[in-house]
Amino acid sequence: MIQEVKKHLKIVNNFKTEDLSKLETFRIEYSGKKGVLNNFFTSFRNIRKEDKKEYGKELNLLKNAVEQKIESIKNSFNLINEVGENEDLSRPGLDFELGTRHPLSIVKNRIISIFSKIGFNISEGPEIEDDWHNFTALNLPQHHPARDMQDTFFIEKNPDILLRTHTSSVQVRYMENNAPPIRILSPGRVFRNEAISSRSHCIFHQLEGLYINKDVSFVDLKQTLQYFTKALFGKSKIRLRPSYFPFTEPSAEVDIYWGTETETDRKITKGTGWLEIMGCGMVDPNVLINCGIDPKEYSGYAFGMGIERIAMLLYQISDIRMFFENDLRFLKQFKSQV
Ligand code: PHE
Repeated sequence: MIQEVKKHLKIVNNFKTEDLSKLETFRIEYSGKKGVLNNFFTSFRNIRKEDKKEYGKELNLLKNAVEQKIESIKNSFNLINEVGENEDLSRPGLDFELGTRHPLSIVKNRIISIFSKIGFNISEGPEIEDDWHNFTALNLPQHHPARDMQDTFFIEKNPDILLRTHTSSVQVRYMENNAPPIRILSPGRVFRNEAISSRSHCIFHQLEGLYINKDVSFVDLKQTLQYFTKALFGKSKIRLRPSYFPFTEPSAEVDIYWGTETETDRKITKGTGWLEIMGCGMVDPNVLINCGIDPKEYSGYAFGMGIERIAMLLYQISDIRMFFENDLRFLKQFKSQV
């Protein structure tokens, strides 16, 4: 008898169905008036006294297993079935957890939305580039020392195929195929053969802007940057420090005045209150010529920033590697962001 009960326990545990009527047959077979459970309970009195304890225990196990099985299959039906006749329509909806956007996407989208208000459109390009679009067209001829500023991952040599080291390559592609006026933003992933640390990574994201039109001057660039920093950081005090990029002339690094109020402010600005946030400049006439645009007729500005860097400032994130580890405890903190 005990063996019989054990056999049924196995059958019950293995029972599966996606058919409601089969579940009902199962229920009647086990829990019905003349069902297996009742039969076993009736036989209880015929069991030898010394076996009663074990038999009772096994029988209870079986009874619980049957109840649980019916309950769990029913629940799964409730989840997948459409509203049935006896459904309580006022019952609260099923709970599900909202996902979160990656902090880099949040920051990227914010920057895009700020620039789209002043007429910039998005343009994207390939992550695997040729030498022309990543270097040569951008006024970086072969053997130019500035190529060393960006340690490159090469995929093939002669002709050189590489992982783009900046998103400026997208600007070349766009200028080659579109006539001015041009007003584009190119966000995307870039790659540099750099040692990974809390401040730098071999993969990161950039967002570059390019504006080409008649009579574009440095004033337009500065005004645009001021508008941008005010909108993103709530701070419009900026300074342009002379710098060098092969593709812009003159070139500058943009610093914003962050302040020195808190301990963190002083730490991230090294006590100066100023923070570097991007590079910029007037597009070099050679770049325009390389892309088929007449520099006598048109001029323009370009700027580029690292999205990780901006996100680290906005959210006070101290280690760039966190963006790529995808630890849910980190990512979930951005839940309330759109
Ligand atoms: N491409 C530059 C970089 O990767 C950034 C930049 C873009 C600077 C546009 C000036 C103008 O460092």
